[in-house]
Amino acid sequence: MKDKLLNLIVCPICKNSLNLKSFHEENGEVEDGLLFCGCGQFFPVVNYIPRILTGDLRPMLYNQFPDFFLKYKDTLPKEKINQLITTEAQKKEETSRSFAYEWEKFSGMLKEWKDNFNFYFEPIINKDLFLKNKTVLEVGCGKGRHTFYISEVAKEVVAIDFGKSVDVAFINNKDKNNIYFMQADIYNLPFKENYFDFVFSIGVLHHLPTPEQGFRKLVGLVKNGGGMLIYVYHSFSKKTFNYYLLGFVNFFRNFTTRISHDFLYVLCYPIAFLSYLLLILPYKIFFYKIVKKGWPLGLYSNYPFQVILNDTFDRFSAPIENRYSKEQIIKWYQNASLKNINILGGGGWRIFGEK
Ligand SMILES: C[S@@+](CC[C@H](N)C(=O)[O-])C[C@H]1O[C@@H](n2cnc3c(N)ncnc32)[C@H](O)[C@@H]1O
Ligand SMILES: [Zn+2]
Repeated sequence: MKDKLLNLIVCPICKNSLNLKSFHEENGEVEDGLLFCGCGQFFPVVNYIPRILTGDLRPMLYNQFPDFFLKYKDTLPKEKINQLITTEAQKKEETSRSFAYEWEKFSGMLKEWKDNFNFYFEPIINKDLFLKNKTVLEVGCGKGRHTFYISEVAKEVVAIDFGKSVDVAFINNKDKNNIYFMQADIYNLPFKENYFDFVFSIGVLHHLPTPEQGFRKLVGLVKNGGGMLIYVYHSFSKKTFNYYLLGFVNFFRNFTTRISHDFLYVLCYPIAFLSYLLLILPYKIFFYKIVKKGWPLGLYSNYPFQVILNDTFDRFSAPIENRYSKEQIIKWYQNASLKNINILGGGGWRIFGEK
């Protein structure tokens, strides 16, 4: 953890400053340490990353880093962990494990991610000008592919994810010195209100138990005049081909979200191969000339097979998936009093607005 991060974060519970105690440092960064607050809250820094998990996600910390807690057991404050698991906590824990598995398996930083980044950021007119020298928060950073590109324009980027994917993101961006990674949950973030110039979250909110509530939490962190960009899955009009295809996929998901990740990974090879053969290849060779929009999986015609496999796993593994119409997403922005809203389609909704 870089010392400077202390100036950007606060205790997620009482919103006062946090203190840092270093146990071990390497190259000027805290590798193992402890963040603590006057109110009694404390958070470990493990493998350079602060782990700011509270409440129902607290047991996850002890399960993920048993060696750390054993090694520093005489130094760390004692706490009683409530093992009472709610259904919501269980879903969140499963979500974090499924994405950690995904991003560890598909950890590579492909050259295609640059175009992918530009695609998601298209709703921001004059993106480079808007982001230049800004303090940015990325929520649900996964393996850090977008973190990499935004850090080239922004002044500093704080990137959070509530799963161990954040460790993959950290490695993928290890040479960047204006990025701060943290393991934290959207619902309990360690920041002051109205703090960031720009907050973005790509492909995350639709995996939450209560997506609009998560969205509202993020809007609260944007300062007046700042911007907010999200990408969420879209719903399909009834009786279209994509609507029935989704029904089929959802039926299958009842099974795939319950099996082991290793088994699902293997199963994804034939599914991805069939998707490629039946939908993507015909589009790539022939139909792209005729059908400009809406071809199922047409967007994948520019990506290598590895990406199709990755997204197949993503679609079939995430325990929670919500989908929204254009009107519903615009309403989120309007209800949060965001202005200058710009929404674009393309495999989902990409939407930007200003506070
Ligand atoms: C589909 S991935 C997208 C990753 C990245 N934004 C990208 O586009 O490559 C969704 C990410 O959101 C994270 N996530 C889901 N729920 C979260 C929560 N409550 N708090 C923080 N991160 C969350 C997952 O761990 C996962 O890495
Ligand atoms: Zn506190």
